[in-house]
Amino acid sequence: MKSKIDEIIEKQNNTDRSDLLDVLQEIQVIEGYLSEEAIIKTSQYFKLASAKIYGIASFYDHFKFVPQGRFHIKVCNGTACHLANTSNLRKEFEKILKIQHGQCTRDGMFSIEYVPCMGACGISSVISINEEYYSSVKPSDVKDMLENLRNTDDRID
Ligand code: FES
Repeated sequence: MKSKIDEIIEKQNNTDRSDLLDVLQEIQVIEGYLSEEAIIKTSQYFKLASAKIYGIASFYDHFKFVPQGRFHIKVCNGTACHLANTSNLRKEFEKILKIQHGQCTRDGMFSIEYVPCMGACGISSVISINEEYYSSVKPSDVKDMLENLRNTDDRID
């Protein structure tokens, strides 16, 4: 049985490398991220090394290489937030969720990513959850925040 990745690649008309980003984008929309399988199959189709495909894709922030959780958490790692002690914030997320940057919890509920300045330095420490911003977040807020998200998710189901 063909995978969705195969279907996306097979419908291409040519191996013109100018189509590479469009193909990667389409795969990410369908799969949610670019898996190793996606990178390898794309590299075979475009006759480029996998490392080259990965290098091109990783240049763009919007390409993801791990599955994202139902709640994707971004923690700002910019200078203002760093001065506001986001390292402790990151540690708290890692301690509770038992994941690190670029990882997703086993239940698929949470993923976490550390990102450069999110453009809201005046309200540091800044995080976002599914692109909704939260300001002045402290490590002591993390446990309740995650619990509320789990409860929200229960109500959705
Ligand atoms: S440094 Fe965090 S929003 Fe700018």
